[in-house]
Amino acid sequence: MITAVYPGSFDPATYGHLDVIRRASLSFDSVVVGVLHNSAKSPLFSVEERVNILKKATANIPNVKIKAFDGLSVNFARDNHAQVIVRGLRAVTDFEYELQMAQTNRVLAPDVDTVFLTTSLEYAYLSSTIMKEVARFGGDISKFAPPQIVDAVKAKLYNG
Ligand code: PNS
Repeated sequence: MITAVYPGSFDPATYGHLDVIRRASLSFDSVVVGVLHNSAKSPLFSVEERVNILKKATANIPNVKIKAFDGLSVNFARDNHAQVIVRGLRAVTDFEYELQMAQTNRVLAPDVDTVFLTTSLEYAYLSSTIMKEVARFGGDISKFAPPQIVDAVKAKLYNG
């Protein structure tokens, strides 16, 4: 029984994140997505909102759970009895940061391995930050996330 955790900010999730979750759910018995309660960043959505958005968007994948977490990703992995941390790699620009995180996590928890899933080509350019920026200026974000997430972003940005 291999459990993977997929930690991230998910502010909010994009089609790129959902693609990584779906593919991880095929490779591992159980996937626990960890939504970081990150006080250093000032997210658009609260951690509860980000968790709820992801729960709805992944409701059709039985072996995926969504949880909020605080602190270190390796502790989140251990708390969930996970052997693997999953991260998506979009482009070479992600690599340095991701490698540093994976190596740090390996020092902290040698029993937890990081597995990278290369983002599907059609989502390789995509990030939550870019999606929010396009939406902020009234652009169409329907290619970046499913309709319920698009609506949540619009409601947050346009209605406060
Ligand atoms: O979606 P993001 O913002 O790229 O995710 C980054 C995340 C949450 C995976 C990373 O910031 C993280 O693991 N934070 C928890 C704190 C931690 O474990 N730090 C040590 C690893 S460098």
